[in-house]
Amino acid sequence: MSAPVRIGVIGGGLMGREVASALARWFALQNHPVDAQLTAVCDVGEAPREWFRRIPSVRLLTADHRELLASPEVDVVYVAVPHHLHEALYLDVLAAGKDLFAEKPFGIDLQAALRIEAAARESGCFVRCSSEFPFLPGPQRAYQLARGVSFGKILQIVSGFHHSSDLDPSKPANWKRQVKSCGAIGVMGDLGMHAVHVPFRLGWYPKRVYSQLQSIYPERPDGKGGMAVCDTWDNAMLHTEVEIEGREVPMRLEMKRLAPGETNSWFLEILGTDGGVRYSTKEPKSLWTFVRGGDQLWQRTDLGFHGPFPTITGGIFEPGFPDCFQQMWAAFLAERAGALGDRFACVTPAEAVASHRLFDAALRSHESRSAVTL
Ligand SMILES: NC(=O)c1ccc[n+]([C@@H]2O[C@H](COP(=O)([O-])OP(=O)(O)OC[C@H]3O[C@@H](n4cnc5c(N)ncnc54)[C@H](O)[C@@H]3O)[C@@H](O)[C@H]2O)c1
Repeated sequence: MSAPVRIGVIGGGLMGREVASALARWFALQNHPVDAQLTAVCDVGEAPREWFRRIPSVRLLTADHRELLASPEVDVVYVAVPHHLHEALYLDVLAAGKDLFAEKPFGIDLQAALRIEAAARESGCFVRCSSEFPFLPGPQRAYQLARGVSFGKILQIVSGFHHSSDLDPSKPANWKRQVKSCGAIGVMGDLGMHAVHVPFRLGWYPKRVYSQLQSIYPERPDGKGGMAVCDTWDNAMLHTEVEIEGREVPMRLEMKRLAPGETNSWFLEILGTDGGVRYSTKEPKSLWTFVRGGDQLWQRTDLGFHGPFPTITGGIFEPGFPDCFQQMWAAFLAERAGALGDRFACVTPAEAVASHRLFDAALRSHESRSAVTL
């Protein structure tokens, strides 16, 4: 195997640490065409930065992202920072000539996403955006079925992501709760990429959207004894229409931070007249399929550990979040090396821009309480 691709991380918070974990056990991947190593980390906070000192391959720890970008020991940069910082940092990465693994939502709003996409194109750098759940075995099988098997006439699609982390009103506010740092699209910027990745990849781009947006708690403790304004949308239901084989099909996209009973539930359901498929991370091993016959019968397949990239983990075991996150990185680095083959690919800049167009239309729909054509 050739020399490892050297990864730098800007933003060593929740997701920066997940990347460190995925790369630290890269050896779990079998016969992956690329070796990878975390070499540099930038975070403005001392505590998050110091956490990375335990990783022997990290040779540069800095509070200044320009120092990381100037390092010849960095080939690819992953940026996981609050949304209002995406544009400036992504553009700096591209100006430094480094390849970029961006985090969603790829800029705080549509205009930022368009500027990032343009800069990515002009730079010639390899740029993709993070969305890991489709790399689980269940979504992979659902995607393959939707592409390869006839479900008859598609009747409806439901795709979404629910969690309940904001149900407790005493939970302190953070940057994800405020328009200035999360964006006016709120929960759509937070969870929307998870909901649209597979439908977009199947070519299902909404032609029209009617949105229902909810903001439930207008303020929360600020963690310093006072209260902080929380002005982002908490829950979003997008009722859309897509065109499939010349017919308009309803597609509902759900993104919720206030979903009672849910921790981190990614789900997809595609129903047709002759068949269907249903998957949720709530039952991570189970793929439900429907084939029209005499009875109204849904069948459950017990899935094993079969991601797009083989690993040392036995096929009978069950996968989780760190596994799909590593599989996503495997896809990113394989595609960058021209070795992805026909495997599922990470979100492209064009898809990220399309998601922003949809969320922007959803804001206008809510404002006017009417359907908006895209
Ligand atoms: N793919 C996923 O499943 C997933 C999950 C959560 C968050 N995210 C995305 O990841 C990004 C980061 O979210 P998070 O939850 O990791 O946030 P976080 O708040 O846990 O971490 C952000 C880190 O960025 C650092 N930071 C802020 N400004 C900086 C700067 N100028 N230079 C360097 N570091 C800086 C902060 O100190 C903090 O440690 C967001 O875009 C978010 O939408 C993705």
